[in-house]
Amino acid sequence: MKSRRQFIKLGTVGSLSLITAQSCSSSQNNDNYERATPTPSKNKPIVISTWNHGQAANKAAWDILKNGGSSLDAVEKGVRVTESDPENMSVGLGGLPDRDGRVTLDACIMNHESNCGAVAFLEHIENPISVARKVMEETPHVMLAGEGALTFALEKGFVKTNLLTDKAKEAWKNWLKDSEYQPVINSENHDTIGMLALDEEGNLAGACTTSGMAYKLNGRIGDSPIIGAGLFVDNEVGAACATGVGEAVVRVAGSAIVVELMRQGKSPQEACEEAVKRIMDKHQNLDNLQVGFLALDKYGNYGSSSVYAGFNMALKDHKNDLLIDANYTLEW
Ligand code: GLY
Repeated sequence: MKSRRQFIKLGTVGSLSLITAQSCSSSQNNDNYERATPTPSKNKPIVISTWNHGQAANKAAWDILKNGGSSLDAVEKGVRVTESDPENMSVGLGGLPDRDGRVTLDACIMNHESNCGAVAFLEHIENPISVARKVMEETPHVMLAGEGALTFALEKGFVKTNLLTDKAKEAWKNWLKDSEYQPVINSENHDTIGMLALDEEGNLAGACTTSGMAYKLNGRIGDSPIIGAGLFVDNEVGAACATGVGEAVVRVAGSAIVVELMRQGKSPQEACEEAVKRIMDKHQNLDNLQVGFLALDKYGNYGSSSVYAGFNMALKDHKNDLLIDANYTLEW
């Protein structure tokens, strides 16, 4: 009898949104992977992010990159679009709450000099990514959490906001009716925007932000604010970010592993696939275990992979406005 694992496919991260100054190809297969020769002067910028909702965020990031702006500004401004979108129920404003009805946010950001900042279990602030950047730039620390993070944000001029929209409140009330008040991991309740960018100067940066697992225990923190798990950037090598079940990503130090695999010579695609395999090896039950990685190397090559059958990759070419459904899956 075939094991469950044989039925699971490795797919690319749900939807991969990408904008680049280079011509867009539908995927970067391992077979033809070659590092582009870095130019001594200007590089071609690129931005990629997870999921379909990343496309609006990518546009905002691209406006910065195409005008010679920094990858750090691009990823911050990019993911703020998703954080401020009340229709997105897994990031920022409008995010689904924990089981007590509280919206608690996790985010982190990292630049080309390995500086990083993060906030975890942050309430009432619409754009946690910008608070994370302030932690990076204006404190000697890497991460602030909970009340301390909120106090810091308010001191820095962020405005207290009610993040629980009527739609999210209704969904939570419906959940309370049938859930027996028990958090359950499934493929519907994890979602994150992770964004990676390379700028004209050849500098990489990344951002990752989420409201975390819907209906989680109060106080739960996922992978998204943890440098090395939800996001990792090493300007000598590349950058990676994760989406999906945070607990599984943390167990393998997911994004750090992807970058280290690229350092060892794997392409971004190969590195993402290897990280996914590690997660699959460490979990007996893969039902509902939705995890994906996205990677971008120093030269603008990119790749993605996920533990979830039937996922597609969509690439968006900013010039042609062309959506390519690469529909790329591998048997495992
Ligand atoms: N990756 C988002 C979370 O698990 O919180």
